[in-house]
Amino acid sequence: MEKIRRTDIAFLLNDAEGTFVGQIVNVRGWVRTKRGNKFVGFVALNDGSCLATIQIVFDFAKMDESILDRVHSGASISVNGELVESQGSGQRFEIKAVEMELLGEANPDEYPIQPKKHSLEFLRENAHLRFRTSTFSAVFRIRHHMIFAIHKFFNDKGFYNVHTPIVTGSDAEGAGEMFQVTTLDLHKIPYNEEGNIDFSKDFFGKATNLTVSGQLEAELAALALSKVYTFGPTFRAENSNTTRHLAEFWMIEPEVAFADIEDNMDLAEDMLKYVIRYALEYCMDELVFLSQRLQDEEKSKPQNERSPMELIEKLRFVADNEFVRTTYTEAIDILKNSKANQKKQFQFPIEEWGADLQSEHERYLVEKHFQKPVILTNYPKDIKAFYMKLNDDGNTVRAMDILFPGIGEIVGGSQREERYDALVGRMREMHIPEAEMSWYLDTRKFGTVPHAGYGLGFERLMLFVTGMGNIRDVIPFPRTPKNAEF
Ligand code: 4AD
Ligand code: MG
Repeated sequence: MEKIRRTDIAFLLNDAEGTFVGQIVNVRGWVRTKRGNKFVGFVALNDGSCLATIQIVFDFAKMDESILDRVHSGASISVNGELVESQGSGQRFEIKAVEMELLGEANPDEYPIQPKKHSLEFLRENAHLRFRTSTFSAVFRIRHHMIFAIHKFFNDKGFYNVHTPIVTGSDAEGAGEMFQVTTLDLHKIPYNEEGNIDFSKDFFGKATNLTVSGQLEAELAALALSKVYTFGPTFRAENSNTTRHLAEFWMIEPEVAFADIEDNMDLAEDMLKYVIRYALEYCMDELVFLSQRLQDEEKSKPQNERSPMELIEKLRFVADNEFVRTTYTEAIDILKNSKANQKKQFQFPIEEWGADLQSEHERYLVEKHFQKPVILTNYPKDIKAFYMKLNDDGNTVRAMDILFPGIGEIVGGSQREERYDALVGRMREMHIPEAEMSWYLDTRKFGTVPHAGYGLGFERLMLFVTGMGNIRDVIPFPRTPKNAEF
């Protein structure tokens, strides 16, 4: 076969002027479907560069039919052919094949991804091949664009990206839900004289774990570079088998010196709106496809469980409306007096101030009460991390959580406690070992300044933007309890 430089299918299909019509081009990709009769065959070819397939037309009088007999869904082929305006409906251009090479066969009796609707559960079990479907290739193309949009947003605002460590000796959130990292032989654990594990014999000479957040190190950088953000993997060994929790997820954590909680809320709201608008601008084909898919799925749901807004409409709504800003105390009043609470419809009834909000409460506030994204501030100190700035009331901290429809908490952040004595006081109350955190406390000793930051759960953002219902379907290879396949 004549060697011609390969062209992305997206490049050919998106060329509005049709510059390449009449030219011989080469495309390579995976066969989605094949149909035809004795005289002519049609292959829908996808190379992942875009959602659409390009139609390849084979005239059997001119082609080697024996090769085409081995081309099935999933097979990879390389085609040289003439780009022509399509006669059929549904596509503007197609390729009249001149030569074809079968690169890799896919035995139809064994290849799991057939041209029919597969359940998401089935595709999760075949996560190594699910990239080949329209749904997952759409999700992962959007994922790429969202990563890029986040870097662009912060770069354009003068933030510096910092890589914070993945292996750490600290528990940033103080929640203790960490994966340990060790090279000790678990069959021959060394003990010290007190009968405790002797971590001085371990690789780092101390107990270490996978990070739950890059925040503490990002704070160190912010107190010199002023505006920084991390975007890295984080790990939580919480045993939550829900549609919104992963054991390994990606988090964006900006940290800004000389900023207070108001600045923090503005930054987070701007960022969310920016990336949503970016998706509307650069991922429209994918969003239209996912919206259609969602609407088909909604039809099988009872009326009261259906989403009130179509996906694209929902994204526009969030991008164009101000988020509601209110306090935890106000939220508790709303929840306590809600019909849902009085009729005992919450799994965790709200009885008093101080209760931690569950996702059912967050979603009630967003979806039923305010019907808009909500930023809640000033939470009780007892349900939040040690580093949040204590308010003058002595009971609440300058925390801010952003709650989104269908998701609940998407962002968690705060103004940080920059006063040395107040921070040490909180650490003692919460039994956080000061000695191990001396490096963190040093920033409060030397040139401390008010500062604030937050963490956006990247996969939660992906759930919102794609409309997918399960967090396992917006990360290529999900890690959840009892599941680390692939
Ligand atoms: O609220 P979190 O725990 O906040 C922090 O880790 C802070 N250190 C962030 C900061 O201020 N720099 O987590 C932040 C976000 C949550 O709002 C949620 O979106 C996401 O991370 N998240 C998870 N996403 C998927 N799976 C999990 N298990 C998650 N836990 C938190
Ligand atoms: Mg949180």
